[in-house]
Amino acid sequence: MEHLVTLGVAVGFLCVLCSLFMRWNELRHWRRGLPPGTMGWPVVGETIEFLRRGPDFMKKQRARYGSLFTSHLLGSPTVVSTDLEVNRWILMNEGKGLVPGYPRAMAVILGEGNVSAVHGPVHRVVRGALMSVIGPAAVRDRLFPTLDEFIGSRLHSWGGGGATLDVQEKAREMLLSSTLKLISGTETGETAAELKAEFFTLLRGTLSLPVNLPGTAYRRGLQARKRITSLLRDLIEERRSPSAPKGGGDILSFLLREEERQEEQEVHRTRPKLTDDQTIDLLVTIMYTGFEAVSSTVTMVVKYLHDHPSALQELRNEYSEIGRRKSSPDEALTWEDYTSMSFTRAVILETMRLATIVNGVMRKTTKDIPINGFVIPKGWRILVYVRESNYDSLRYPMSLCFDPWRWKDRSLENHPYFMAFGCGGRLCLGKELAMVETSLFLYYFLTRYRWEETGGDEIVLFPRVEAPRGLHIRLWTN
Ligand code: HEM
Repeated sequence: MEHLVTLGVAVGFLCVLCSLFMRWNELRHWRRGLPPGTMGWPVVGETIEFLRRGPDFMKKQRARYGSLFTSHLLGSPTVVSTDLEVNRWILMNEGKGLVPGYPRAMAVILGEGNVSAVHGPVHRVVRGALMSVIGPAAVRDRLFPTLDEFIGSRLHSWGGGGATLDVQEKAREMLLSSTLKLISGTETGETAAELKAEFFTLLRGTLSLPVNLPGTAYRRGLQARKRITSLLRDLIEERRSPSAPKGGGDILSFLLREEERQEEQEVHRTRPKLTDDQTIDLLVTIMYTGFEAVSSTVTMVVKYLHDHPSALQELRNEYSEIGRRKSSPDEALTWEDYTSMSFTRAVILETMRLATIVNGVMRKTTKDIPINGFVIPKGWRILVYVRESNYDSLRYPMSLCFDPWRWKDRSLENHPYFMAFGCGGRLCLGKELAMVETSLFLYYFLTRYRWEETGGDEIVLFPRVEAPRGLHIRLWTN
């Protein structure tokens, strides 16, 4: 009995201590003019609930405090915005003190010069350089044939005869290899193998707590970044050597040729010369930025098509039409073939909407920002949460159903509130590249194979869209 009383007192004391702690944490961050909300525990804030209950946590807080509320997420005091107008305003007004605010581990590991770490004139230079190598014109004029050949031949070797494979893992490997091929012209050999292995360590490091102690994912991420930098630096040196073959069609060759061309014609310099460090940051950015989003899209599109035979059939019809225009089944696809795949584009957009491949983007305030009658203090993070706008039943009737036909209304893709690729000055530079990669995957996958899921695989949609233990399918050639 005595023990129970002591235990009860101890628990009661702990509860009082906890609530005092939480109150202290709220007061610590309290400022007149902030939106309402809660801050959770010191240091961890509400991160655990946010990661565990994601969309439900957001809905609960929104119902309680409105579409703009405070929280403490991923180590920073944060204002969450679920308001469409506010979201758009934030993304359109970087110049007013709203710079990207991604977690520290990401900024440090990806490098000071990575596109999300820079702003103002430096951002314009980096964005311009990226645009010249992965923007829509580059995809159409230079990258498309390489991707077509690469993705087509990769999918040849996926198997058949009922073999089982994990489509998520295969897609990840294929996309990383195709990016290496685009960057350096090859995805095989020792350097490529090492780059791939180090890349996955880097990826894990960027999503970890920035604790630089032996054995942590962050420390390993930093080491991987160092090794990747050194491999890319060697590659640049090799390319510059007089004996190196000239005129490769990959991104690195293009950047080095541009550099030479601009040096020869100094007067025509259209943008400042990139340093080698900037070139390396640029290549790492290209490997990193699209990788997760495109492999999640590929995984989810396979899932949705498996569950929706009528959409699958319409895609097959679209590809039969393209096949009829070819003199042999092995004839390469052209840019015109790609732009004629309107239902494919609709399927991809619907997949991105329904799965919400990107839940939100982060900003950091560089001064006090007045928004909607509140003031967001300097140094705070803003989570521009776009997930709920994807399920707006006015814009997307039966919004929880997979309905690619809704995208036949082309105005939906360009609607100001469709923010799957962000908006404003940081609108995704890889949108067309992602569309091409996913379209080519679908074309070759569907024209070569039939598949069924082995069943039992779980898909999670928050904080990242993924199948934690893979998405396993059985595959037969057509
Ligand atoms: C399904 C595929 C993709 C989705 C959903 C997606 C989504 C996004 C979003 C939402 C942003 C805005 C980030 C912000 O405002 O902070 C963004 C930016 C960016 N994306 Fe993508 N992306 C995809 C694929 C790609 C690919 C394949 C690449 C290139 C390899 C790429 C390169 C970039 C770059 C460089 C930026 C930064 C632009 C800047 O800060 O100026 N993305 N993307």
